[in-house]
Amino acid sequence: MNGATGSAMNRVDGLAKVTGAAAYAADFDLPRIACATMVRSTIAKGRIASVQTDRAAQAPGVLLVMTHENAPKLPAEGQQAQPPGDRALSLLQDDQVRYNGEPVAVVVAETLEQAQYAASLLNFSWEPAAPALDFESARASAYQPKALTHAPPDVAWGDAANALSDAPTQHSATYTTPMESHNPMEPHATLAAWNGDELTVHDSTQGVVGARKALAKKFGIPVEKVRVISPYVGGGFGCKGSAWSHVVLAAMAARKTHRPVRLVLERTQMFGPVGYRPRTRQELALGADSAGKLMAMRHDVVSPTSTFEDWSESSAVVTRMLYACPNVSTTHRLVKLNLGTPTFMRAPGESTGSYALEAAMDELAWKLQVDPLELRLRNYAEKEPESGKPWSSKALRECYRAGAERFGWSRRKAATGSLRDGEQLIGLGMATATYPANRQPANALVRIGADGSATVQCATQDIGTGTYTIVTQVAADALGLPANRIVVEIGDSQFPEAPVSGGSMTAASVTPAVQAAARQARGQLVARAIADAESPLHGLAAEEVEAVDGWLLSRADNSKRDAFASVIARSGGGAIEARAQAKPGEEKEQYAMHSFGAVFAEVAVDPTLGEVRVRRIVGAYSVGSVLNAKTARSQLIGGVVWGIGMALHEQTLVDPSSGRTVNANLAQYHVPVNADIADIDITFVDENDQNFNPLGARGIGEIGITGVAAAIANAVYHATGKRVRDLPITPDKLLEA
Ligand code: MOS
Repeated sequence: MNGATGSAMNRVDGLAKVTGAAAYAADFDLPRIACATMVRSTIAKGRIASVQTDRAAQAPGVLLVMTHENAPKLPAEGQQAQPPGDRALSLLQDDQVRYNGEPVAVVVAETLEQAQYAASLLNFSWEPAAPALDFESARASAYQPKALTHAPPDVAWGDAANALSDAPTQHSATYTTPMESHNPMEPHATLAAWNGDELTVHDSTQGVVGARKALAKKFGIPVEKVRVISPYVGGGFGCKGSAWSHVVLAAMAARKTHRPVRLVLERTQMFGPVGYRPRTRQELALGADSAGKLMAMRHDVVSPTSTFEDWSESSAVVTRMLYACPNVSTTHRLVKLNLGTPTFMRAPGESTGSYALEAAMDELAWKLQVDPLELRLRNYAEKEPESGKPWSSKALRECYRAGAERFGWSRRKAATGSLRDGEQLIGLGMATATYPANRQPANALVRIGADGSATVQCATQDIGTGTYTIVTQVAADALGLPANRIVVEIGDSQFPEAPVSGGSMTAASVTPAVQAAARQARGQLVARAIADAESPLHGLAAEEVEAVDGWLLSRADNSKRDAFASVIARSGGGAIEARAQAKPGEEKEQYAMHSFGAVFAEVAVDPTLGEVRVRRIVGAYSVGSVLNAKTARSQLIGGVVWGIGMALHEQTLVDPSSGRTVNANLAQYHVPVNADIADIDITFVDENDQNFNPLGARGIGEIGITGVAAAIANAVYHATGKRVRDLPITPDKLLEA
């Protein structure tokens, strides 16, 4: 072992990224490439009465104006779309309009400017119908979805209704969170090229395998005919977990023009047709006995979806697992609105749900006059509440302790408005963070070449999180090679299959496969050496040989050594190749598997302006073993930053009459900037979850956002005595009487 795994190794792709050598989807060039722009509806519901395309088609450089009148007819899909990769799309197959901003045409030209100019000459006549856009009135027709992404919509045990009414201390309230839109730095981008009946797509995606399957399904062609390539992704956060309409539209346009077609979404097109986090309305009711033990919890969630595909924000799943409680009832309902379909957005469910639950727990703590952290400890779940299963590993108590100590929680006084800094009201708040530990089957190939260096191939992807780096680290240790002699090739659907980089599962799924393939490759190398009469290791048993820094060594006598390259050269120079699969097994039945954390926030509120500044966040996390100390910390910082945005800034505003997003740009859709971010202190408690996977590592992509909004909202209450139950906490809400 070289001890690479766990170290704070710099990103192996860092140099390529900062020098511009890393090619993102839109950076790829091909001979005869053509540029496309996507045109969208300007009504929320109805049909296209007519569209005049002549002027656009005759504009300079135009190769194709594709509308529902001339778009290739795609095979009818027999079954419902299968998220995440495959979604119900808008592919110009009919004249119907189902939301404002729905794709209705694609214009292809020699240059992007020509395509955009021609698109401005398109003339649509709409036949509008009355859209459903009012969430509140639509709630009357809320319905139960078939399922959430990973769970049933309703889960209950005990008798929450009766236990609630019996509880001496009760708290019930409604918490709401707004629609939010993904804004990765790199917008969605697709470059599609046909070669005969074979389709190659460079796409900014969180799942090359899923995008490939979705494209094959939409075109009705075998998956072998489709290749999706995505070596670098400038952020995903869930929106790039699905192949949305533009991906297929680019391929349709490429087929029709017989040219490679590049289609990059404009920033404003990121709002609506590529998913978003839906708003939520969450009713929480908690009941506790006089000792502060939870007797009952109810959590009822309503969120909107589109008129053509169900997608639920699973906010109440946290209430099913976070605290010990004998009587629990959780429900999820949907309402259909004339909007695009919502989708996964960093910690879908847990982000919004942990806000509501953890704000409600804070309110209960005030009612009970118990310290909020103490209330969490009194209700600590020693096993999974619903199933009674043990946790694979859980160090949340250690997180509470470590976080409280680093933060200085003990200086918090149990009175609102008790801390000041000049005019500023200071508040301290905390909340629990949690996210499930997910894992799916993954495959990897490891090849040791004639020069003794190694190549790893896997159809996973690096969405900015550090996949290249952790795969390098794990392979280095398993092979006994220095990290700089390992080349990691990912982001290509032709490599061995791996899951979507969603649900925080890439590290946990992929690294065990890489480790297994690397160990097999090393085993083959050792076998060649000990069988070779010319090797200093000849005749040793395999167990008597170790691999360090590109050498095979006799464990008993390190002076007996053979370089990787020498072993291969003497055996004829043929590369060694090993493939392996790693997948979850029975541990899923035996254990409940989650990551946890404790988040502490200090805010300063200006009482005159209602402005909230987050001065400090301390987060302590229980995530299993950490594969890279630096990228892991960065991941958590990124999640916390987003949590600050969720608490104070982000909201997608839809005009209630037109259904159009009115702030579809980064000037008016506020995300935190450097000036909004002060001190973020991230700690990991020591843990190694061998019950979960061989690396002992649970995923960390999403937990960072969870709990943060609640910790901030709770701190704002501590500072001001004002309880804002409607995110984001903007100044107007604090200035309201
Ligand atoms: Mo994550 S929102 O599952 O990509």
